[in-house]
Amino acid sequence: MLNNTDPELSRQLQATHHRIADATLAASSWEDLFRAVHKIVAETMRANNFCIALYDEQKGLLNFPYFVDERETAAPSPQRPGKTAIAYVLRTGRPLICTPTGIGESSNRRVEINGVSAGVWLGVPLRLRDKTIGIMVIKDYNGKTTYGQRELTIMEYVSSLVAGAIDRRREDERLRLQTTALESAANAILITDLVGTIQWVNPAFTKLTGYRADEAIGKNPKILQSGKHSPMFYAEMWDRIQQGLIWQGEVINRRKNGDLFTEEMTITPVRNERGELSHFIAIKQDIGERRKLEQQLMQAQKMEAVGRLAGGVAHDFNNLLTLILGYSDLLLNESDPAHPSRAKIDHIHKAARHAAELTQQLLAFSRKQMSSPTVLSLNAVVNDTHKLLIRLIGEDIRISTRLNAKAGQIKADRGQVEQVLMNLAVNARDAMPQGGDLIIETSDVELDEAFVREHPGARSGPAVMLGVTDSGTGMDKETQAHIFEPFFTTKDLGKGTGLGLAMVYGIVKQSNGYILVQSEPGKGSTFRVYLPRVKAPSEPSRQRTLAPAPRGSETILLVEDAPDVRALTCELLENCGYTVLETGDPEEAVRLAESRKGSIALLITDVVMPVMSGATLADRLTAVAPQLRVLYVSGYTDDAIVRHQISDSPLSVLAKPFTQEALAIRVREILDLPLKRNSGNGAAPA
Ligand SMILES: Nc1ncnc2c1ncn2[C@@H]1O[C@H](COP(=O)(O)OP(=O)(O)O)[C@@H](O)[C@H]1O
Ligand SMILES: [Mg+2]
Repeated sequence: MLNNTDPELSRQLQATHHRIADATLAASSWEDLFRAVHKIVAETMRANNFCIALYDEQKGLLNFPYFVDERETAAPSPQRPGKTAIAYVLRTGRPLICTPTGIGESSNRRVEINGVSAGVWLGVPLRLRDKTIGIMVIKDYNGKTTYGQRELTIMEYVSSLVAGAIDRRREDERLRLQTTALESAANAILITDLVGTIQWVNPAFTKLTGYRADEAIGKNPKILQSGKHSPMFYAEMWDRIQQGLIWQGEVINRRKNGDLFTEEMTITPVRNERGELSHFIAIKQDIGERRKLEQQLMQAQKMEAVGRLAGGVAHDFNNLLTLILGYSDLLLNESDPAHPSRAKIDHIHKAARHAAELTQQLLAFSRKQMSSPTVLSLNAVVNDTHKLLIRLIGEDIRISTRLNAKAGQIKADRGQVEQVLMNLAVNARDAMPQGGDLIIETSDVELDEAFVREHPGARSGPAVMLGVTDSGTGMDKETQAHIFEPFFTTKDLGKGTGLGLAMVYGIVKQSNGYILVQSEPGKGSTFRVYLPRVKAPSEPSRQRTLAPAPRGSETILLVEDAPDVRALTCELLENCGYTVLETGDPEEAVRLAESRKGSIALLITDVVMPVMSGATLADRLTAVAPQLRVLYVSGYTDDAIVRHQISDSPLSVLAKPFTQEALAIRVREILDLPLKRNSGNGAAPA
């Protein structure tokens, strides 16, 4: 295209070449670049009106990134090419000159063209690798200017340079996008050459491994090796990627600070234009967090399943033990202390009690233990149990308490909280056979979302923390993974039951709390129990009655669908002097109550019965006889009504199995309460 016959033109083109190359380098934006081009062109010919249109192939639209026109103020909006002169150049890839008198083209074909209203018009294509990517136009309205071969030659030359500049700029933008994307990717990315020398890493790599880019580049990824994989592992990985195949897997690596972490990694071989392997790119992600959550979830599910099993067994045992305890109670009462069988019955009774205790522990673990939550202060519980704890753990261990006087109130069963404290203290004692320190502390804490994320199953919000720390043997991670399971013990046969922490776990769960353990072999252990903080004044604790089994003469309606439990309870009550009406059928109970209108003082009913729940029965009876008092007997707390009743009035529920004494005391307590017209259960908090 260079016209060598005209030295002046050659010189001009040469100069243009340099100036456009300079402008390309200097320009910081498309706008800058096109303005510079316009200026350069305007120095060689009249070019008051100049525009560059670029064709967006994907959208099928012409854009006007540069547009200067004496008659139009604004650049045309993006548009379809249509039948304009521009569209013609775009379609044919050939330059076009239009004059007011006609349209000139190298081949004298006539074309139908819109949009060239006045003046002369010269358009040249911007061509890149056989494609017309846009067009460059000059235009003049003064009526004297003509565009000829010279202008065409210059414009075509300039357009080839501009197309090249556009190409380079686009390529730069693409590379910049790729680099930014890799830089800002959340995954750690690492690029090595063929022998594994690190060429590039992104900021996520630094975040994951602790190595800055300048520390990693030039090194081998071996700096991350943890020693947790065999040489074979790495050999196979290399073998695979050197064959040009993708490697994918999990790797345990070591951070700069020495910590181990597990990552999921994909290594992809990169090939150059000739198809030869040139680099490897590794994309990594820390999966430790995910693993931990998965394990915690599995642990929680396992505890759930074991809890269901233990709870089911314990529940059935409870009914049987109620019978064994009850009848041995009766036998003991009836028999002369000198009777030869007396000692045997005593053994049966003791064994049954022991079995009932074990069952209670299992029930506690499965969160089915009867509980009577009240608002209480952990500090008060710790203070009240202090003497007992000292006796329990012996003289070799120093107990110190760090109770935060401001620690708030919780709502839980007092007896259960004492149990938690005692079990933790006893374990601490066992872990310090040569003596040591036991620290009990309380404080208010706020459990935030981060805590909940870290500890699935925990609830966020205000809580009171009970901490029990010992300076004993501590535990390894493996032991810690099992300590809350029932029957898990590391103690010798006869020394440990493995139920202590299972109970603690169940009680804490039942109280909507969370328990954490922190321990290392040889470094002691800390158990932390978090219980939700409540805003309420604490309730005075119920005194335990120690008087001999109280008696009475009132009439009691007993509704219990298990015949043997009913027979036993009936007998126990009659022994205490009461008149008992008994039935296993709630409907029958309603009829009995109607026929004995007013003479029944107390309804004792099972909570869960097939035809009608204990609560419904109580509601029906108290509706017609408001003075009637109610005592529920229940083996477990699943029933929402029971839970409601318990929290309303701890007196109105008696847990199975019960002894004659417990039953007699409770019945008397309820009957002796001042009559109060309330929801009908007859028992106000004592
Ligand atoms: N404070 C502690 N220090 C060290 N190990 C403990 C501690 N508390 C509990 N453990 C471990 O947890 C196991 C289970 O405890 P637990 O459920 O109370 O059952 P048990 O005390 O009957 O063994 C113990 O056998 C012991 O290995
Ligand atoms: Mg224990």
